[in-house]
Amino acid sequence: MTNGVTMIESSAPVPFYRQVGDEAEVFRAAARRGSPVLLKGPTGCGKTRFVEAMAHELGRELITVAGHEDMTSADLVGRFLLKGGETVWVDGPLTRAVRTGGICYLDEIVEARQDTTVVIHPLADHRRELPIDRLGATLKAAPGFQLVISYNPGYQSVLKSIKESTRQRFIAIELGFPPPAVETEIVAHEAGVDVDTARTLVTIGDAIRNIDGSPLREASSTRMLILAGGLVAEGLSLRRAVQSAIVEALTDDHDIIRALGELVDALLPRP
Ligand SMILES: Nc1ncnc2c1ncn2[C@@H]1O[C@H](COP(=O)(O)OP(=O)(O)O)[C@@H](O)[C@H]1O
Ligand SMILES: [Mg+2]
Repeated sequence: MTNGVTMIESSAPVPFYRQVGDEAEVFRAAARRGSPVLLKGPTGCGKTRFVEAMAHELGRELITVAGHEDMTSADLVGRFLLKGGETVWVDGPLTRAVRTGGICYLDEIVEARQDTTVVIHPLADHRRELPIDRLGATLKAAPGFQLVISYNPGYQSVLKSIKESTRQRFIAIELGFPPPAVETEIVAHEAGVDVDTARTLVTIGDAIRNIDGSPLREASSTRMLILAGGLVAEGLSLRRAVQSAIVEALTDDHDIIRALGELVDALLPRP
C-alpha cells in the first residue's frame, strides 16, 4: 500500500462476502453497462469488502483510493515527477484504471474537496473520458473501466461536491448492516470465534443500533463486532472485549459509557 492506494490482483483469494440483499445483482448489471456506482452505508457495514468481492468475481483489477481532505486531482490523475534528473509523467490511480479497464474505487470520497471530484464528471457520464490537462490529452476509458464511490450518508454529504447531473448517472446501492443470522456468520468467520459468541456480539450490536434517540454519532458496526470477537479469540472475556472494542470506541462520554455498559450486562449470557 502506497499513498492510500491499494491494488488487488484477481489472482488473490476469493474475498469472503455474504450478500445481504440483491446488491450483487445490481452491481453486475451496472458493471455490464459500465455505469458508475454509488455505495451508501454506515462505516464498517461491508462496502469495501463488497467491492473487493465484485472486482474478483468480474475479474477486474481493483484500484482503491482512500479519500482524505488534502487529496488533490493530481493524486487521482497523476503528476510530473523528477526521476534521475528527468521529468516523467506518473499516472495516478484513476488514470491507471482508465487505461487498464479496472475498477477505480474512491473510498469515503466525502473527505475530498470539490476541485478533486470535478475530474470524475466526464468519466461518470456517456463520454467515459478523462481529460488530463497537464498532458494536453484526453483518455477514453478502456472497456471494463468502472467508477465506484462510497460514502456514509450519516456524514456531510459528498454529493454536495458532485454535480447533480453527474450524480444522476450513478447507480446507487444502499448497504446496511446484515440481518442477525448473516452477521453472526460473518463475525464468526472473520473473528474466528464460535457461533454462540458471535451471536451474543450481534445481539449486543443490534441493541446498540436500536437505542431510541441514540446519542451516538455512529452505531456499533459489523467491523466493531469483529474486532470484539477478535479480542475474545485472543482470550479476553466477552465483557472486556465488548467494553474495549465497542463501548469505549463509540464514545468518550462517561454517562453514555455507563448506560451502554448496563445494556451490555443485561444481554450477556448468565454464567
Ligand atoms: N456482507 C459481508 N460479508 C463478509 N464480511 C463482511 C460483510 N460486511 C462486513 N464484513 C466484514 O466487516 C469488515 C468491515 O467491512 P468494510 O467492508 O471494511 O466496511 P466499510 O467499507 O463499509 O467501512 C470487513 O473487513 C469484513 O470483515
Ligand atoms: Mg471502507
